[in-house]
Amino acid sequence: MDQDISLLLRGDRPEDRAELTRLLASEPGRLELLIAWEDPAAQRIAMAAGFTREGARRLPGRELQVWSRLAGDPTEPAPRLLPDIPGGELTDGVVTLRPLGEQDVAFYTELHTLPEVVNTSVPPIPPTPEEVRRRCSRSEAQWLAGTRADLVILDSATGAPAGEIAVYYQEPPTNQAMIGYSLLPPYRGRGFTTRAAQLVALWAFAETDIVRLIAGTAPDNVGSQRVLERAGFRREAYLSSRLPGPDGTRIDDIQYVLLAGDLLAQASSGD
Ligand SMILES: CC(C)(COP(=O)(O)OP(=O)(O)OC[C@H]1O[C@@H](n2cnc3c(N)ncnc32)[C@H](O)[C@@H]1OP(=O)(O)O)[C@@H](O)C(=O)NCCC(=O)NCCS
Repeated sequence: MDQDISLLLRGDRPEDRAELTRLLASEPGRLELLIAWEDPAAQRIAMAAGFTREGARRLPGRELQVWSRLAGDPTEPAPRLLPDIPGGELTDGVVTLRPLGEQDVAFYTELHTLPEVVNTSVPPIPPTPEEVRRRCSRSEAQWLAGTRADLVILDSATGAPAGEIAVYYQEPPTNQAMIGYSLLPPYRGRGFTTRAAQLVALWAFAETDIVRLIAGTAPDNVGSQRVLERAGFRREAYLSSRLPGPDGTRIDDIQYVLLAGDLLAQASSGD
């Protein structure tokens, strides 16, 4: 009963699942799973078996997630802060949103090296190729962890990636999350981001416990402010020197908010 057992679990190896089942049946005092960040299948197995996310183990050249289960822990999986999207995508017929994945490295690199996208990112530095690869391959793990939901905005007519939108669940204790987005230039001015923001907000209010959805824009980013207003957000605060700007400067941030009730009122007024 007092053993402390560690298992390196891979989602694609049936023998690992069998070993996990055997170990669980032996009722150890503490069972630890080591899982690669890029292995959401194994993370889902751990969640379903009632394991608790514990932290990260740094190894030369890679990092593993650490999950644990103590004797007497509940057997049910913990509820997810960011559940999977029903059917895997959100669409209004014009744009379709689906989770970011490993296949998006080229598109994500193109988008996130555009100067205007870099300048509106935090921090305003282009991601390295390694960072892009990591963001794409760890997107599902972040979603499972309830920290962020990264979505690609597709042109529904062609299926081509047009941009991205993300929900950052930064403050679960107060039910507040933030959205951020950017679009490739050929797709701008067609209402895509407004539609994506509305789809994401409807999903967040219907499927998660998020109550306040916020977004921030630089004072000179009129396009982003219009997107938020068109999507039903209202201006709420002006935060001086809120964000790191280029070359060590600081920039002000105009903060917008959307509440579930705002969205319902908007829907019932037919806007
Ligand atoms: C800001 C951005 C996401 C807008 O996306 P978009 O899909 O072109 O926006 P939409 O087509 O949904 O436009 C919504 C409204 O904003 C207006 N708008 C969009 N870009 C604008 C601009 N640069 N200047 C003024 N108005 C603009 C549109 O005309 C539209 O207004 P309307 O409904 O009154 O006609 C896009 O320009 C972008 O990716 N910019 C760089 C990254 C960025 O700034 N991200 C946001 C960080 S906070």
